[in-house]
Amino acid sequence: MGHQLVFASHNQHKIDEVRSIIGPDFILSGLDDIGCHTEIPEPFKTLEDNALAKARFVARHYGFDCFADDTGLEVESLGGMPGVFSARYAGKGRDNQANIRKLLKELSVYRNRKARFRTVIALVLENREYLFEGAVHGMITESIKGTSGFGYDPIFIPEGHNKTFAEMETAEKNRISHRRMALSELSAFLQKTTLSSR
Ligand code: IMP
Repeated sequence: MGHQLVFASHNQHKIDEVRSIIGPDFILSGLDDIGCHTEIPEPFKTLEDNALAKARFVARHYGFDCFADDTGLEVESLGGMPGVFSARYAGKGRDNQANIRKLLKELSVYRNRKARFRTVIALVLENREYLFEGAVHGMITESIKGTSGFGYDPIFIPEGHNKTFAEMETAEKNRISHRRMALSELSAFLQKTTLSSR
């Protein structure tokens, strides 16, 4: 019998992707599957604190082992901004186009356009807490390129490539993404961890 694990997300697409990475040893549920229909608050100033808050919320209120992720685009010249504020950089509306416009404007006075996407995953497992991380380094373009993906994909070129995430096929991006790297870390940990059955 697989170990039950909740991924603190309402996004079915993300949940399916994670299920394929984690493999059959775990019975993976999303938030809606356990009857959690609220948006869990992410009020903190670091990716780590926000991811931990979400995983703890599920463990405390629903009694399940759980993991949660938080991602940000960290731009070197901007001291790591927008970072944990990536979704709301241009305001509460979470408008991707407005976020990109603001970032390109802020960065226009700098020559250094280095940036990285960073994903943190927090896991609460049998009352212990663990953190995993994945990062992709790259450059911010001067204008939008490509139409696939989401968020800041049209202005981010990963190191060793000559096209933006938004110019890549989804599968190509997902193979090298920050989220995939963090999930691979989590998955490797889960495979080697001996768990009590529940
Ligand atoms: P979340 O933690 O996955 O919700 O990501 C927070 C914000 O970071 C998103 O709203 C996007 O603006 C940005 N973001 C996260 N992952 C990606 C990505 O893979 N490509 C582009 N933008 C991303």
